[in-house]
Amino acid sequence: MINNNLFESLTTKEEKYSYLLDNMSLLFTFVQTSNEDEGIADLKRLSQLANFTAVMKELFDSFSWVGFYVASGNKLYLGPFQGKTACEIIDFGKGVCGTAASKKETIVVKNVHEFNGHIACDTGSNSEIVLPLLRNNELWGLLDIDSYNLNNFDETDKNYLEKIVNLFLEIIKFK
Ligand code: SME
Repeated sequence: MINNNLFESLTTKEEKYSYLLDNMSLLFTFVQTSNEDEGIADLKRLSQLANFTAVMKELFDSFSWVGFYVASGNKLYLGPFQGKTACEIIDFGKGVCGTAASKKETIVVKNVHEFNGHIACDTGSNSEIVLPLLRNNELWGLLDIDSYNLNNFDETDKNYLEKIVNLFLEIIKFK
């Protein structure tokens, strides 16, 4: 398992993201086997998604909410997350999440109050980043991160988080 006590020694976001990239495999106890029963594989992934949100929230004080939405049909369903209670279902095309789902693109929102149609699950949120999780170019779900800071996310976050999400997808055997 990742050593949470080390987190205090990491100060810049570059250090934190690099640490996560280098140590991500330690986060996961389970190993997926090639002929795994799909029901068990899904349960393992659920645990892994939950642990991922916990480690991200623990690492970054500036993150007020970290969580997954899982896509089915043209809707997004709330998955494992850390933070305040959130909207359980979001339609494709609605809000930041639904827009990222429709476009299958990362969206960085420096000020959510200027994003037309932003869905305010937590009125304290001021900025947000949403990354698509693709499996064989199909949208499996999204990683959504909110912050109470304005302008909390930039190209550095986008670049690191896209790498982290891709590595995470490899680890949980979505490829
Ligand atoms: N703000 C998101 C909704 C999800 S919450 O932030 C957890 C949106 O506009 O889609």
